[in-house]
Amino acid sequence: MSELAILGGSKIRTEPYPVWPVWDQRDIDAVTEVIKSGRWGGYPFPGPKTAELARKFAEMQGGGYAVPMVNGTITMEVALRAANIGWGDEVIVPAYTFQATASAPMAAGAIPVIVDVDPNSYCLDPKAVERAITPKTRAIIPVHLGSNMADMDALMALAEKHNLIVIEDCAHAHGAKWRGQGAGTIGHFGSFSLQSSKILTSGEGGILLCKSAEHAALVASIIDCGRPHALGGGGDDPNGLAAQGGNFRMSELQAALALVGIARFPEQARQREAMAAYMDEALSEVPGVRVLPRDKRHTTRSFYRYIFAVDPETFGVEHDVLCGALDAEGIECWVGYAAMHNYDLFQPQQTRLAVPSAFPQYFDFTSMDLPEATRACEHEAVWLDEAVFRCGPQGVDDAVAALKKIQRNAGELKQAADELRKKLG
Ligand SMILES: Cc1ncc(COP(=O)(O)O)c(C=O)c1O
Repeated sequence: MSELAILGGSKIRTEPYPVWPVWDQRDIDAVTEVIKSGRWGGYPFPGPKTAELARKFAEMQGGGYAVPMVNGTITMEVALRAANIGWGDEVIVPAYTFQATASAPMAAGAIPVIVDVDPNSYCLDPKAVERAITPKTRAIIPVHLGSNMADMDALMALAEKHNLIVIEDCAHAHGAKWRGQGAGTIGHFGSFSLQSSKILTSGEGGILLCKSAEHAALVASIIDCGRPHALGGGGDDPNGLAAQGGNFRMSELQAALALVGIARFPEQARQREAMAAYMDEALSEVPGVRVLPRDKRHTTRSFYRYIFAVDPETFGVEHDVLCGALDAEGIECWVGYAAMHNYDLFQPQQTRLAVPSAFPQYFDFTSMDLPEATRACEHEAVWLDEAVFRCGPQGVDDAVAALKKIQRNAGELKQAADELRKKLG
């Protein structure tokens, strides 16, 4: 009988990791209060809970003007529209991210230009960004991926030099800090998702942090059907519209849930940070595992998933087989996103956005060779669920024990994977 659970052995962890989202009486009371108030939706914008959420979230991140809305994709589209970026413009995005980071520029009418990532952070590589800048480039969307932050010093310097707008995609980075400054408050905009898997959640939802009050007022108009919004406030103006907009308002029920989440957040973040530091140390002793080095400027780590890299040579298998084996041991993990430059959807020559007048011929999209994103997405990255870090040292110990067990039995795992591959042709 094999020692490995995936080949019939017994599991390292038999007890499931704790579920997400967490909730208690406070959530029930908050939703009940909104239900009884009769003010469930987001109109007129902002409702009292939404206004309170905007204030408290900006406080939590340490700055900016927050505008809550429906999700963390619309946030980026609206930021682009507020910055007057759209048709014919290019927006630089990393190859390693969720599709929303590239879909949002397309929805705004712009062409997403997908560039490679830094192998140490898996976030945008500033050198690759610089090479991709053309006269049509208007914005950069760095993604603070998993448990890391993009090099905001280098990216902001590039943005300043080339007069570009920076929209931080902080869907994974609530509470994270760079040189003590909150994620999402460094660029011109910070986009946050409150979708149910995220570490601050209202089921669905998003918040856009704006550096300038002028942008915040315009954003509020865009998400509220174009109604004019004065700086720091809202209201109907019967005389007309301030922007072309739609209904992307957050409901009061969602805002109420997010407010309870904010109250709970600091203790959860403290626990995650402590357990992630413990994990960094424990993993550094496992051969074939590369802990992504933490940039010293990333002063507070607050993460969505913990990402590390495995060496397929040492383990004898690629990350997908390793994740299958880890999962069978009871360790919740994932191989991560596919490399975006391989998606058909994002090949500019295949979209109607790339009509000849808008398509810059000097940019050869057909030969996108992004080795670091390819290595991460297809061979080496492993994403551990946040729940692994929410049940004390035992949660981490189990994950490390499972990796060591797989490592001890690497030969057997490789043989089984090879046989299965042969069988499947
Ligand atoms: C990196 C990243 N950006 C954007 C989003 C989009 O957020 P939402 O699902 O709220 O639209 C997500 C999450 O799902 C994400 O992981």
